[in-house]
Amino acid sequence: MPSSSSSFSFGAGGGRGRGANGGGYQNLIASKMEEFTGTSDALTNACAFALCASVVGLVALKLSRKTMTMMIERSATTREQERGGGRKPKTTLKELKCPSASDDEKVTITFYYGTQTGTAERYANTLVEDAQKRYGLKQIFARAVDCEDVKPDVCEEVLSSEKCAVFLQSTYGDGDPTDGSADFCRWLEETATDGRMPDMLEDMHFCTFGLGNRSYEHFNAAAKQVDKAISGLGGKKMMKITLGDDDKSLEEDFEEFKEALWRQLEKTFQLKAEGEEGDFDVEKHSYAIRKEEDAEKVNELTKIRERKSFEMSRGSEIPTQAKPYACPIKSRKELHAGKSDRSCVHVEFDVSQCKGLTYEIGDHLGVFAENAPDVVDRVCKLLKVSKQTPMELVRRDDAPKSLLPVFPGPISVGIAVARYADVLSMPRKTAIKALASFATNKKEAKELDLLAVDKAKYHAYVADPHRSLLEVMEKFPSAVPTLGAFFGCVAGRLQPRYYSISSSPKDVTNGSGIVTATVAVVKHKTKTGRVHEGVCSTFLQNVREGDRVPVFVRKATFKLPKDVKAPVILIGPGTGYAPFRGFLQEREYLLKSKKQELGECMLFFGCRKEEHDYIYRDEMENALSEKVITSLDVAFSRDDPKKKVYVQDKIQMKAKDVYKILRSPNGAVYVCGDAKHMSRDVNRALLQVLQREGEYAIHEAEEIIRRLVVDKRYMKDVW
Ligand SMILES: Cc1cc2nc3c(=O)[nH]c(=O)nc-3n(C[C@H](O)[C@H](O)[C@H](O)COP(=O)(O)OP(=O)(O)OC[C@H]3O[C@@H](n4cnc5c(N)ncnc54)[C@H](O)[C@@H]3O)c2cc1C
Ligand SMILES: Cc1cc2nc3c(=O)[nH]c(=O)nc-3n(C[C@H](O)[C@H](O)[C@H](O)COP(=O)(O)O)c2cc1C
Repeated sequence: MPSSSSSFSFGAGGGRGRGANGGGYQNLIASKMEEFTGTSDALTNACAFALCASVVGLVALKLSRKTMTMMIERSATTREQERGGGRKPKTTLKELKCPSASDDEKVTITFYYGTQTGTAERYANTLVEDAQKRYGLKQIFARAVDCEDVKPDVCEEVLSSEKCAVFLQSTYGDGDPTDGSADFCRWLEETATDGRMPDMLEDMHFCTFGLGNRSYEHFNAAAKQVDKAISGLGGKKMMKITLGDDDKSLEEDFEEFKEALWRQLEKTFQLKAEGEEGDFDVEKHSYAIRKEEDAEKVNELTKIRERKSFEMSRGSEIPTQAKPYACPIKSRKELHAGKSDRSCVHVEFDVSQCKGLTYEIGDHLGVFAENAPDVVDRVCKLLKVSKQTPMELVRRDDAPKSLLPVFPGPISVGIAVARYADVLSMPRKTAIKALASFATNKKEAKELDLLAVDKAKYHAYVADPHRSLLEVMEKFPSAVPTLGAFFGCVAGRLQPRYYSISSSPKDVTNGSGIVTATVAVVKHKTKTGRVHEGVCSTFLQNVREGDRVPVFVRKATFKLPKDVKAPVILIGPGTGYAPFRGFLQEREYLLKSKKQELGECMLFFGCRKEEHDYIYRDEMENALSEKVITSLDVAFSRDDPKKKVYVQDKIQMKAKDVYKILRSPNGAVYVCGDAKHMSRDVNRALLQVLQREGEYAIHEAEEIIRRLVVDKRYMKDVW
């Protein structure tokens, strides 16, 4: 459940506004004014107050113009905001084009990145910093460019101005590029395949680092696509594509890529290494800390920020990742029966007060969770700081780009750890390096230093057993980072988690006021014997009615066909049923309220045991009896100890009906849930159905499936 108070704020909303209710904050106001204007002069502060008041309307806590500007600017530059808020300033063509195109002395290296959760961006910024250190500013000019900024209308001009480009491309969804880089990748592919400009990039030397995960069916598909397209447009490949694998250790793959890249750059452009990148500069990658004396005051400020954030989000503004809606929980209930040893919760979010939050079936809900209270306690103990300690992060002017923007403050350390510190993921090597620099015990310092540089040791101790940062810190307790270092370069930033929305805004009972999520609670033992409790799923398992949780909606293309008579097949075992619950609500609405005639709808669901985890059983069976769906096939994988039955087996059993829909002119197939096994097995089953029922050869069946994908009649929402 939320750590401190029942509402909270992130991003810009948190830093900007102020709540009503002035009187009690007199001293606080005065000291805040003084802190930011640097003066206690009443007139200056009065002027500043007037300015702010005109901006935010009813202002209780007076802030100076400087404060306002600082807070707005600070939050307006966050990547989160860039991703979701659409407030990122438009990059001009001049800024995007290779700046030293006419300067032959210097090599400009551009690191293009396509990222969903920021890893590719972090790597691009690291490469910029390291390249600058290694070759010096006389030899090179290095820069990082977000592919999201390179719109199709400027792609040609921007890319053809490059002499040296490195592409860092992540793959998402079902082998797709990231949301932001989708247009860029599409443009590349289309331009390369139409074959009209095979020499467009003949001046460019390039190479590609893919960020992917081997357990997905289409491993590094987007990076491979970029690499092939640049080649097809005449780009000269400096080295073979590197396929980073997040399933093993992306960090190590990146390190190897970096070493190989330096060798190639030196060979291709006759660059000379002037110095090694050297040790990771902990101080540079740390925030300065603005100490707050008064914990009470900080708590008040946090509450005001949160209230304001909530009030602001009640307007018509669309909540985003940067500015989520602090949404009240309407209810939460366990979906598994008591006999089950696992948990899956149905969570209802009351969005009726937030006009800007709209959604459609198939969309995703982004949720910001908090670390569990015991995790926060353990972290604060290791940092040797009380949870109540007030603080505020400050980004120094000369901070490297890879240092993330600050989160809103002042804030207590406990709340900051709960909301922003990712301590249950594996620590990066640079985090271990930073910890080593703080270790007061020599043995610990030496061991940490070794871990940070020795690939085999890092792999054996951290990557392979999936040791979390918290575990590592507990093993080396003398390494106590400063708060600035902890938030700057030891702990990563806690990311939102996504859930396929399991309701429809047209639900006959709830209407558009409720958004629901169906959440499988992650709990498993790691190799080290530690039980990993998923951050967000555990958080949602514990929320209570009235708690406020920051959420936003991410639009998706996973929708029912426009033609309501089109026959559809829905395949969603476990929580993969989530979006289909919304689909069924929508069909019920069309059938009952709109009196429309609906096409056939086959639903395949699967779980372990009928009596344990057949979630939403009543709803599915009702939908069948009410003719919202035309068939319901449920696979129980553990009811019969001698025979495991999965959805793909049920598909085979219904091969004739499935085939009919696959070959009908407007039929569509939807798959949701596990990307690693289920969606591949289902794909195989569909191919077999085509081969058996249609007597197609395997390559013909594959072509039919490929066409269905292209026509958006075979869609997947898999993770
Ligand atoms: C588009 C999309 C839609 C989704 N829809 C749904 C949905 O409808 N329902 C649903 O339940 N989920 C859904 N998910 C998954 C969901 O977003 C979360 O990933 C899931 O709830 C787990 O998050 P968590 O914070 O609880 O777990 P995390 O703490 O993130 O852990 C998740 C997994 O990461 C691994 N892991 C991470 N750190 C460690 C560590 N230190 N040691 C060992 N293992 C570790 C484990 O394998 C663990 O199972 C969806 C994901 C996406 C991308
Ligand atoms: C929902 C989801 C889908 C993914 N799909 C793929 C995929 O199809 N192929 C692949 O190689 N990697 C896939 N990945 C792995 C990511 O590409 C990988 O974790 C990468 O490091 C993310 O980088 P980013 O932080 O820059 O976005 C997927 C990850 C998630 C969470």
